[in-house]
Amino acid sequence: MPDRKILVTSALPYANGPIHLGHLVEYIQTDIWVRFQKQRNNTCYYVCADDTHGTPIMLRADSEGITPEALIGRVWEEHLADFTAFGVAFDNFHSTHSKENQVLSTLIYERLRDAGHISSRTIVQAYDPVKNMFLPDRFIKGECPKCGAKDQYGDSCEACGATYSPTELKNAVSVVSGEKPIEKESLHYFFKLGDFKDMLMEWTQAGHLQQEVTNKLNEWLEGDLHEWDISRDAPYFGFEIPDAPGKYFYVWLDAPIGYMASFKNLCEREGLDFDAFWGENSPAELYHFIGKDIVYFHALFWPAMLKGARFRTPSAIFVHGFLTVNGEKMSKSRGTFIKARTYLDHLNPEYLRY
Ligand code: MSP
Ligand code: ZN
Repeated sequence: MPDRKILVTSALPYANGPIHLGHLVEYIQTDIWVRFQKQRNNTCYYVCADDTHGTPIMLRADSEGITPEALIGRVWEEHLADFTAFGVAFDNFHSTHSKENQVLSTLIYERLRDAGHISSRTIVQAYDPVKNMFLPDRFIKGECPKCGAKDQYGDSCEACGATYSPTELKNAVSVVSGEKPIEKESLHYFFKLGDFKDMLMEWTQAGHLQQEVTNKLNEWLEGDLHEWDISRDAPYFGFEIPDAPGKYFYVWLDAPIGYMASFKNLCEREGLDFDAFWGENSPAELYHFIGKDIVYFHALFWPAMLKGARFRTPSAIFVHGFLTVNGEKMSKSRGTFIKARTYLDHLNPEYLRY
């Protein structure tokens, strides 16, 4: 009888929108894979969680006149109901806004810091002088500095494909207040990804990834691995950095740690051994199912963070492509999505699974 010990995850859906059919490409394929392992009598756990932190969630709660906690609580119920209706059977569906995640994020940050993998320096960023907050690139709009197209985001132009910094946009305005952003200095914390270049060169060639993914990573690994900005200033919905009051972990720092936190929560409920799965030399298998848009976070930052904090690294990452509409990714931001709930109102979910 096979007796493998396997921990499986799907990417953590953002808590700022509904589950749509694009998401289900991932959750249904993971669920089928997990059911197969369970039928083979392997010990297999499937965990997930809502990804709850960041500026968009904070602002959306604001605009609805509720707290972020109330917003993510409501969305958690909706997400779980949708997944359950589609037969996606998580062993645990948790939240990144949980005590387990705060403890683990703090632990990992402190281990990285104590090993010398965190640096800090002052940077200049766009700031909304009315709303009194720093503005992520996506919350600044203006005219493209290259082609002049109107109504473009602060990081790139959808008309000509140029990438630039928000300070280069012409006639830039804050999406939050409509005001012209000013520039302001702030101290930020960085994860020194470059410290892990050798480790990553080896890891990305060692059979943990599909060939196409390795090829893409090789492009990134040929260039410099820039330090990764892992802090954000208040006001921000997230976890405060322990030794830096008023600074918060960037959502992508604590999001993958949410995989561990969800499993930790399951361990506490069912008396399982957390270290048997996450310890540095764990013989258990760990698999992440993700879409191709989040490879950089999972195949570079994540293994490096785990290694630097003395946890095990993933056995494999399974990367899938997109469900598209007219050739483009079905997505919330493009407004091209069909909600899981709409499908359920009209059709039998087994049709989609099949
Ligand atoms: N919150 C991050 C993931 C953090 S994981 C530590 C995120 N959330 S998401 O809601 O945007 O996407 C969740 C998953 O669904 C991702 O793996 C993403 O690639 C996948 N998909 C979202 N739209 C999709 C399609 N149109 N088609 C296939 N998969 C899609 O990214
Ligand atoms: Zn342009």
